[in-house]
Amino acid sequence: MTLHEFIKDERSRFRARHPAEDGWHVHLCANSYMSFIPKAPAFLRSALKPADFDEAIVTHIFYDQGHVRERLTYLPRMLRGKGAIEYDWQGDISLKWRGARIHLRRLWAPREGPTAHELTFIATTDLAALESFWKEGLRFCKQRRHTFIRKINVINGPDLPRPKQRWTDVVLPDGMKAQIRDNFEAFLKARPAYKEMGLPYRRGFLFIGPPGNGKTLVSKVIASEYRVNMVTLLIKSNLDERTMDQAFSTAVHNAPCVLLLEDLDKMVDSRQVSLAYLLNTLDGLSCPEGIIVIATTNNPGRLDPALLHRPSRFDRVWEFKLPGFAERLALLKLKNRAGFSDAAVERAAKASQGFSMAYVQEALTSAMLAALHAKVKAVDAHLDTAVAQLKVQIKEASSGSAAVGSPQSIGFSA
Ligand SMILES: Nc1ncnc2c1ncn2[C@@H]1O[C@H](COP(=O)(O)OP(=O)(O)O)[C@@H](O)[C@H]1O
Ligand SMILES: [Mg+2]
Repeated sequence: MTLHEFIKDERSRFRARHPAEDGWHVHLCANSYMSFIPKAPAFLRSALKPADFDEAIVTHIFYDQGHVRERLTYLPRMLRGKGAIEYDWQGDISLKWRGARIHLRRLWAPREGPTAHELTFIATTDLAALESFWKEGLRFCKQRRHTFIRKINVINGPDLPRPKQRWTDVVLPDGMKAQIRDNFEAFLKARPAYKEMGLPYRRGFLFIGPPGNGKTLVSKVIASEYRVNMVTLLIKSNLDERTMDQAFSTAVHNAPCVLLLEDLDKMVDSRQVSLAYLLNTLDGLSCPEGIIVIATTNNPGRLDPALLHRPSRFDRVWEFKLPGFAERLALLKLKNRAGFSDAAVERAAKASQGFSMAYVQEALTSAMLAALHAKVKAVDAHLDTAVAQLKVQIKEASSGSAAVGSPQSIGFSA
């Protein structure tokens, strides 16, 4: 069957189901409203106000997958491994929109040559209602693009504002910061080349290391320094495989995109997401527009080695170790706003061996707070005392005799 015959055939079938004498208007759009039609299910879900429409049912027909019928009151599961994703829907959406009936039917015609032809038939009983549906849909798409740039898209919670941290706020051992930065920028730059070659394009960075040494900080810097879409998940009780699917598919559809998986070990620990599932999803992930997964973990030991040792999952692993003297000194100098003397700063850098960067920073903060509470100007002794006190706390915490709250934030949103 030729493409032409296919279209003719489908059109007459669609027309037959929507007779003009029953008040139907029928349209065919071939690759026209591309920007909205793929996102129609997402739009309906997001606009899901009963006052707007009574019912919407979409029948997904995935290649090789058979049919999945669903009511648009929840998000569909991304079908494993096949890369079938939310916006790839085919099938029917029937809805009542502001009193009128609208029916969308989206299909792919059989391939003729290299391009796939996407067809959408539209029928409505009220052209004005269709127009309002369309307008709202386009607005949704526009808004989504807009918020994406300004915010970090959090799948299972409210979006986050972009952080403000810069590369200059980060202190890492020699060359490590430049390496991460260059690798990330290379990812952004490589996109046109991959696109031209039609290659799926993805990278994975894994940040490991004990808490409080900059894994989250670097993720924040990336979110703040580059105007690239970013999708993340919060580790909460509502994190399950379906939510993960949604994160992956959202990232793919907003590529080039950074998918940030914070505290990966906790994600897998949550039990609602199995490691096998995560691995499969990572393996199946591919996208010609470029996607980069940045995952962090304080406990790489809790992760399956399979996650670490397969290049297609994480091709770069960076370890954020406890800082050495040079890094502690650099951080103290960078954050020394109270004007502690060089000698005191150096003493603190020496005395804080075994501190995480978060604790080093905490030493400065508590020294300044101590001065503030005593209503005096901060002097070197405040810093000496703060380091000594923290040292005791850290020791007690690590020997388990007392629980101290660690100063570092947990997760990206904190
Ligand atoms: N390498 C670093 N350079 C500068 N500040 C750091 C560094 N590591 C940690 N910090 C400070 O400690 C805080 C907590 O670190 P974070 O990046 O959340 O640790 P984690 O490695 O556990 O994700 C940061 O917000 C920052 O203030
Ligand atoms: Mg962290």
